[in-house]
Amino acid sequence: MKDQIEKIKKEIEEFTSSTKQSVEEFRLQFVSKKGKVSTLFDQLKLVAAEEKKELGIVLNDLKKSAESKFAELQEAMESTSSNNLFDVDLTLPTTPNKTGSHHPLNLTRYRIIEIFERLGFNVEDGPEIESDWHNFTALNFPENHPAREMQDTFFVEKNPDVLLRTHTSNVQIRLMKNRKPPFRAIMPGRVYRNEAISARAHCFFHQVEGLYVDKNVGFSDLKQTLYHFAKEMFGKETKIRLRPSFFPFTEPSAEIDISCLICHGKGCNVCKYSGWVEIAGSGMVHPNVLRNCGIDPEEYTGFAFGMGIERITMLRYSINDLRLFSENDIRFLKQFKPVI
Ligand code: PHE
Repeated sequence: MKDQIEKIKKEIEEFTSSTKQSVEEFRLQFVSKKGKVSTLFDQLKLVAAEEKKELGIVLNDLKKSAESKFAELQEAMESTSSNNLFDVDLTLPTTPNKTGSHHPLNLTRYRIIEIFERLGFNVEDGPEIESDWHNFTALNFPENHPAREMQDTFFVEKNPDVLLRTHTSNVQIRLMKNRKPPFRAIMPGRVYRNEAISARAHCFFHQVEGLYVDKNVGFSDLKQTLYHFAKEMFGKETKIRLRPSFFPFTEPSAEIDISCLICHGKGCNVCKYSGWVEIAGSGMVHPNVLRNCGIDPEEYTGFAFGMGIERITMLRYSINDLRLFSENDIRFLKQFKPVI
């Protein structure tokens, strides 16, 4: 038994670590009721009477030294852990919060709205799932117009036809049908076309429709409004060009081009070496469209336009692939203005 006591004494003396875990280990081994020292006390009952006294004194010493060592270790542990508090370098910068950012298409939409609101245009909204009548018929599309065919339009139901709108012009119809002129509104929204996805085309994209109907609205109003818009959106130096075009719902119709922002007219691959980039379709609202909505074309005239938000965003930020807008790659998205 003496040898055992010596051995344990040594173990206690040599124990050094003061981590939380090892102090607990020490307690279990040497201090607790089931520890080595208590076990020796149990064995003391079996020892011969003459040895008991002497051994009892030695054992008591052992118990005391275990307890005081335990107290020592605890103290050491506490002082190191409280020291740790001051190991923190309070001058270090904190980890920044990861904030989200505005989608570039939204940034462009906000800017378009801002420009037109200052000209007195309201913002209007309409459904993406639409009847054939609102998307085509009321807009003066003849029955056999190719845009109605399956390769362009996603149909939801046939007979009567329900479809995903192919443009935001449906909102023109809803507005004119439900309210009385004058109208001065822009209508941003998502549109759908059955097209193969590539860098330049997608099966869904975004447009902003514009409509201005009042007494004595002329083509010069259309031209001046879009000229003002181009300068506000792309800078004072921007020029516009109108090219004759065709839409069933406008007459006359014009495609709006702006001078290329990248090469300033010298020719580059963005403008396909023409110096001009198309940004919108436009025209004077066709008298049949006004009539379809119960408006007298003898009394009221108006202009309309529709522009692609993706196209404008690509020009603004020099983005060369349409797919980036819908892939949600955080490395792309986080480059834009953070949400605060
Ligand atoms: N809806 C036409 C398109 O999607 C654009 C347009 C709108 C043209 C209004 C003229 C007037 O291409």
